[in-house]
Amino acid sequence: MTRSTRAAMDGGLRATARRLVTGGRGILAADESVRTMSSRLEDAGVPASAQQRCAYRELLVTAPGLAEGVSGVILCEETLRQHLADGRSFPDGIAGLGMLPGIKVDTGTAPLAGAPGETVTTGLDGLPDRVGEYAALGARFAKWRAVFVVADDLPSPWAIRTGAHALARYAADCQAAGLVPVVEPEVLADGGHPLDRTAAVTARVLAAVATALADAGVDPAGMVLKPNMVTAGAGASVRTPADVARATVEVLRATVPDDLAGVAFLSGGWSSATAAANLAAIRELPAPWPTTFSFGRALVNPALHTWRGDPGAVSAAQEALLVEVRRNTATTRAAA
Ligand code: G3H
Repeated sequence: MTRSTRAAMDGGLRATARRLVTGGRGILAADESVRTMSSRLEDAGVPASAQQRCAYRELLVTAPGLAEGVSGVILCEETLRQHLADGRSFPDGIAGLGMLPGIKVDTGTAPLAGAPGETVTTGLDGLPDRVGEYAALGARFAKWRAVFVVADDLPSPWAIRTGAHALARYAADCQAAGLVPVVEPEVLADGGHPLDRTAAVTARVLAAVATALADAGVDPAGMVLKPNMVTAGAGASVRTPADVARATVEVLRATVPDDLAGVAFLSGGWSSATAAANLAAIRELPAPWPTTFSFGRALVNPALHTWRGDPGAVSAAQEALLVEVRRNTATTRAAA
């Protein structure tokens, strides 16, 4: 690749990354794997099938006016290859509706040898070819999630190193293919640990990820970081949004580069109200990067449970999604 081609590609990546996190909008994570989506459908009383998964994702992305609050939608590979009722592919439909189509490119987690109780995210083999194909299908950005558990002496240094290394390799592959990486290191909220412990673990994880990304030559301005907010464990006493915000911004400022395109938080299984309140408090604090949401469950759960597979409930389900999007978009705008 010539130097000018590379510069043009970097410019395109940076513009796409900025578009994902600015303008008061955030990212809708609708990228549950076939297995996870099937079990969520079944929990909601919907028989799981490729058709029902497609119908549900179509309901989400075609919610009227979604693009006012959503800059991009993360899909799983199955949906990337499916079509809307009007015949357009999902990526074409999403782009036509004013949003950026994205794709989850990891293939899930597997036990990590040498680290009992911990996992590593899989999917690096063949990734350069896959991301090239996803780009050709219309994807503009790509997500990879690494998961870190908090327990007595976990996460282990080995799990942190392997997780960070995989994130950096995937991010470099994405940028080489012209896709913006949305780098997701998630410190799970499972457990009864206090907020300070989440802060210490998140700081170790983010510092390792930042070092690995720099080693791999990943352009921070051409990527989005998708971390957890720094909360207490789900089984511990809840802390105020102001506490969460202070700890989150402090950890991020100490560990990640100022020239990141932006930070888009995951919701981590917290309720829609909790996730939105924490995000609003984060947005009140000064930070060198734009901060927004890349929520899955906190945005879509009400819609899924309103729909429950009933074609007559599509409009009500779309409205339930829009309520959650507006709640988070409003906080983003208020602080912008
Ligand atoms: O990988 C997880 C999703 O992209 C974010 O999901 O907001 O439900 O934690 P969540």
